[in-house]
Amino acid sequence: MTRRKYVVGNWKMHGVSSDLGEIHSIAAGSASVSNVDTALCLPATLIERAARSVSILPIGGQDVHWADKGAHTGCISAAMLLDAGAKLTIVGHSERREGQHETNEDVRRKAEAALAAGLGVILCIGESLGVREAGQAVGTVQAQLDESLPHAEVSAAAIPGQFAIAYEPIWAIGTGKVASPADIGEMHSALRDRLVAAYGDAGNEIRILYGGSVNASNAAEIFAVDDVDGALVGGASLTAEKFLPIVQAASAA
Ligand code: 13P
Repeated sequence: MTRRKYVVGNWKMHGVSSDLGEIHSIAAGSASVSNVDTALCLPATLIERAARSVSILPIGGQDVHWADKGAHTGCISAAMLLDAGAKLTIVGHSERREGQHETNEDVRRKAEAALAAGLGVILCIGESLGVREAGQAVGTVQAQLDESLPHAEVSAAAIPGQFAIAYEPIWAIGTGKVASPADIGEMHSALRDRLVAAYGDAGNEIRILYGGSVNASNAAEIFAVDDVDGALVGGASLTAEKFLPIVQAASAA
């Protein structure tokens, strides 16, 4: 099955007003690559301004609460993200699983709430270095996926069109270390099996992105791996100069 490549930037806790020009440059450059879907997931404070000024590039959040509204200080609901102009959100990033103690159950509820509200979702999973070195990466990440996946009946229409997975080995994030093509291929194929087990044929249409130190130099090799449908890019998404070559590598893959 051919799936359109999807390259998404995750700005994490980077970006203030003076970076809007960079966002415009990324939007303009991405728009000229017609065979790749792109998006930028920004800090909450920039979403509305970015979304209002760059209609050609989907803007997303980096997290969402599962409740519609209520006493959840500091949190953002799916309705609020939509109201600000966001089209998608990341859920379950390892920096939130670790830093904010989010569980698979939390991640599943967030994904379900976002899909039900009409937001796209990128659900992140990935193993620690200790798990990889113990030879338990595939089983561990498969179990993480199984427990984090939105239940099929919650938003059947949104899966697969609005839903993607990002496999991000924790030890590869921000370290300059990248998983080998063989290890990425093994993991993505194992995750594909779980998606098909969960959703039947629709599981074949869900895009599985790789994340972890993706840059202009390694993107082509990563995109050549079977079942790699794009990338979730951190550091190299902060400038058009670094991000656009990754989008172009996806276009050529
Ligand atoms: P880096 O590309 O900076 O390694 O970050 C990857 C990531 O965590 C994207 O969500």
